[in-house]
Amino acid sequence: MREIFGKLLAAAKPVAGLAAIVGMLTPTMGRAESGADLFKSRCVACHTVGGGKLVGPDLKGVADRRSSAWIVKFVQSSQTMIKAGDPEAVAIYNEYNKMPMPDWPLSPAEIESIIEYTKSAAGDGATAAAAAPAPPPKATAEEIALGQKLFVGSVRLANGGPACSSCHDVANDAVISGGVLARELTNAIGRSGHQGVRSILGSIPFPVMQKAFEGKPLTEEEITALVAFLDSENASHKGAMPRDTGIKLAAGGGGGAVFLFLMYSVLWSRRKKGSVNQAIYDRQVASR
Ligand code: HEC
Ligand code: HEC
Repeated sequence: MREIFGKLLAAAKPVAGLAAIVGMLTPTMGRAESGADLFKSRCVACHTVGGGKLVGPDLKGVADRRSSAWIVKFVQSSQTMIKAGDPEAVAIYNEYNKMPMPDWPLSPAEIESIIEYTKSAAGDGATAAAAAPAPPPKATAEEIALGQKLFVGSVRLANGGPACSSCHDVANDAVISGGVLARELTNAIGRSGHQGVRSILGSIPFPVMQKAFEGKPLTEEEITALVAFLDSENASHKGAMPRDTGIKLAAGGGGGAVFLFLMYSVLWSRRKKGSVNQAIYDRQVASR
């Protein structure tokens, strides 16, 4: 039953989901896809083969590091493995700042064919070239401002996609009520890098977010503006980044002090309310 469901999903998903967004990359979608096609439609947003880290690790030589069985399980549901405490899965998850890799309802044979592709493509740099063009020019203040408006929806997305703040929040006072359905994005650039976030927005790999943007892709200019905005958020809130423990501790200390002050005033007001006079008065009222 599960298997049938998985197969159905595997058959329906590329057509309904990713195909809409990265359809142009994969003209042979639907029929038996080669490892290269599968890689370019599902994995290239976050991985290169021989081109270095993107959102996730470079998959060059992954078959030397891990067994096929491990890779198949990880690709089908990395979070299941991580929750079950697989030490290698937990280690790489932590190394990549707890960035969840989406589950892929692919068959073991399909995943094997991707593994074959990572072997054959190793070192040719082709996927790196496709996934990592020249570093972006420095963002202008206008781009950052536009990115913020697009994020909260005060400027509509050209193709009608939903505002990011309906699901995500950032630690910015101007973004009043960001959503909590998905992860906070203040440090998204710190987690995945410019290129990583660009490629996530260019071919959205997360099922829920993908559905929301189905047939409503972001434009190049929107992606540039959103990346500029998230970059400035990341830069102005370094304190929230796990790497900067010093700043984090300082910020935590400050927050802790404020919290304590608040607690004191709360506790103090309780104390006043429960005064001796009040207790005597209550008893007299009750005994009447
Ligand atoms: C949204 C980004 C994203 C997409 C899309 C993605 N991955 Fe990943 N992948 C990651 C991240 C991040 C990690 C690091 C582990 C973690 O954080 O869970 C990872 C880790 C891996 C690993 C473990 C690598 C190692 O060195 O142990 C394999 C194998 C892998 N991915 C294969 C794939 C395959 C195959 C696809 C396409 C079907 C794919 N990934 C699509 C983000 C992604
Ligand atoms: C319908 C809800 C929804 C909307 C709208 C949405 N996202 Fe997402 N997004 C998700 C989900 C779900 C994930 C997967 C990770 C998680 O659970 O947070 C995600 C993941 C991401 C990530 C990777 C998260 C990380 O750990 O760094 C980025 C970057 C991102 N979204 C950016 C955006 C931007 C920019 C917009 C607006 C153009 C947007 N999203 C709109 C639901 C949404």
